Order: sequence, then C-alpha cells, then structure tokens
Amino acid sequence: MHYRRLGHSGLKVSEISLGSWVTFGTQVDEPAAVNLIREAYEQGINFFDNADVYANGKAEEIMGQAIKGLPREALVLSSKVFGATMPGINGRGLSRKHVTESIHASLKHMGTEYLDLYFCHRYDPDTPMEELVRTMTDLIQQGKILYWGTSEWEAWQVMEAHGVARQYGLIPPTVEQPQYNLFHRKRVEDSLMPVCRDLGIGLTTFSPLYHGILTGKYNDGIPQGSRASLEDYGWVRDRITPERIAIVRKLTEVARDLEITPSQLAIAWILRRKEVASVITGASRLEQLDENLGSAEAYEHLTEVDIDRIFAALGNYQEQ
Ligand SMILES: NC(=O)c1ccc[n+]([C@@H]2O[C@H](COP(=O)([O-])OP(=O)(O)OC[C@H]3O[C@@H](n4cnc5c(N)ncnc54)[C@H](OP(=O)(O)O)[C@@H]3O)[C@@H](O)[C@H]2O)c1
Repeated sequence: MHYRRLGHSGLKVSEISLGSWVTFGTQVDEPAAVNLIREAYEQGINFFDNADVYANGKAEEIMGQAIKGLPREALVLSSKVFGATMPGINGRGLSRKHVTESIHASLKHMGTEYLDLYFCHRYDPDTPMEELVRTMTDLIQQGKILYWGTSEWEAWQVMEAHGVARQYGLIPPTVEQPQYNLFHRKRVEDSLMPVCRDLGIGLTTFSPLYHGILTGKYNDGIPQGSRASLEDYGWVRDRITPERIAIVRKLTEVARDLEITPSQLAIAWILRRKEVASVITGASRLEQLDENLGSAEAYEHLTEVDIDRIFAALGNYQEQ
C-alpha cells in the first residue's frame, strides 16, 4: 500500500480507502463488516470513510465495533454532517447547532474521542460561511476533530471557505470529497482539481466504480444481491443504460489486454492523478476488496498508451 499526503497537510492516507455507504448496516451485517475492515487494515488501508446519515447511524456504530482492538493512532476515521439526522427544523444542515450535535452523535456511535477528518457533506446556503468555518475551527481546538473538509462543493464554495478562514484567522478546509470516476469526471477535472491544487486541498474521491457499473457486473443483467438489485436503489438501475454498458464492454477489452480486471482499470485510472490523495472504494464482499486493492499495482504499470486506449473507449461520453 502506498500513502499520500492529504493536500498540503502532514496527514498521510492510504491511496485506496474503504467507505461504509450502502454496505455497512444495509447489505452487510456487523460480523461481515468487521471482517472487511480487519482485512482492509491488514492490507494497509488506514482511512475509513463514514457519514452520520449512512444507515441512519448504524454504519458508524458498526465501524465503532470493527475498530475495537485496532490501534486508534493508526486509523484515519472520518464522518460527515449535513443530512437530516435529528428531529426539528435544526436537525439538519451546517448550523453551529446541528454540526455540534451531529459530531457528538458520531463520536458516540464510533466510540472514539475524535475524528481525523470531518466533512460538510453538502454546501448549506442557509448557514453563513463564517459561522461554519468558526464552528469547524472550534471543533479542532476542542480536539473533537483534527481536520475538516467539504464534499461535493463547487470550486467557488471551497474558495469562499478558504478565503473566510484566511480573513478571520480561522482554520481552512484540508480536503474535498467529490464523486470522480471514468464516467463522471468533467466537474472535478475542470474546476475542483485546479482550485484544490492551488489551495493545497487534498481530494478523497468517491464511487470509483460508478456504483459497480464499471466492474462489468451489469453487462448482462442485474445480479442478485448487487446494489442495483436493492429495492431502494432504482436510481442505480436507471444508470445501467445501453450507452454506458457499451463503453464498459470496450473498457473490459482494454483491461483484458492488460491482464487486469475492469474494476482495477477504473481505480488505477483515478490513482494516476496526483491531486487524488485517496480513492474511497466500497465493497460488500471480501473478494471485491481484494480485487480492488490490486488496482495499486495495476496503476504502476499503466502507460500513456493504455490511458489513450481508455479515452478512446470512452469516446465523447462524459457526465458532469
Ligand atoms: N461524499 C459523498 O457524498 C459520498 C457519496 C457516495 C459515496 N461516498 C463514499 O465513497 C465510498 C465508495 O462509494 P461507492 O460505494 O459508491 O463506490 P463504488 O466503487 O462506485 O461502488 C461500490 C460497490 O460496487 C460493488 N463492487 C465493488 N467492488 C467490486 C468488484 N471488484 N467487483 C464487483 N462489484 C464490486 C459493490 O456493490 P455490490 O456488491 O452491492 O454490487 C460495492 O459496494 C462510500 O462507501 C462512501 O464512503 C461518499
């Protein structure tokens, strides 16, 4: 496993990390999740990504159980705040009140005294930037979090947070967490990457396999137990379009020639970007985790010619 610095901070994260969304507490029960986390840790993963909304807090609780017995100092644990998790008009968003209540709940769920990374899950137009940056600075000074960041914010919103922090002598964000994969790359490459590079903000990117579609598992239908087969995930089924599947078939041919799997190709393609500190993967089974961990080696052997072939397979296709 290789480790990369998170932006200009001194924190090092494994270039492949593991997240708990959809899996822990939904598809994966506690014993299986514990196995996944232990295996990930054994293989060198140090960064584990969570959010207060995942499985209504259950994912954080499972993470807390799984890390019992592991050295806390060796782990980089995150959570996120923004979505509705508490009753009342103030039970969501990025106000000082909700952020403070949500961090307390996350710490309790995970049984830890601090989080290494704390993400604002989305931008909140109802909270003044100064209130948010002051709240994050306070949480850092109280020792409840070590670094803070944003997720799926526009480049100008990240710049605003950074500017407000500099203006008032507060602590700026260290990390942004956007969706980034072979299909969904334009927004990140055109605006977030240049801005984050300039500001020294690291990227931890999510959904590298486009919910599994880039693995090729949906090329001939929807396998039982997969994310697209889950009742509440009709929006994933909607993404399995003939156009995308045709591209995945072409990418599969490139992967076959390189003697790697389509999943490894998709993750290796992200790892080649130096702006990315960590690719946050998801796995519902140990075999998936092991396969995805092989991307690190695949990336080391990826040549410019291979990258050209990948872009040729994508053609003009790209989403936001
Ligand atoms: N900040 C945000 O707003 C945000 C949003 C989304 C995700 N995230 C973070 O990013 C993490 C990863 O996102 P994601 O789960 O959407 O990633 P993803 O890589 O796009 O999808 C992961 C899913 O694909 C399937 N899969 C993974 N590896 C596979 C393999 N080798 N072969 C076959 N199937 C495989 C598994 O689902 P099945 O087995 O069910 O098919 C797995 O759960 C999340 O856990 C979360 O921490 C953050």
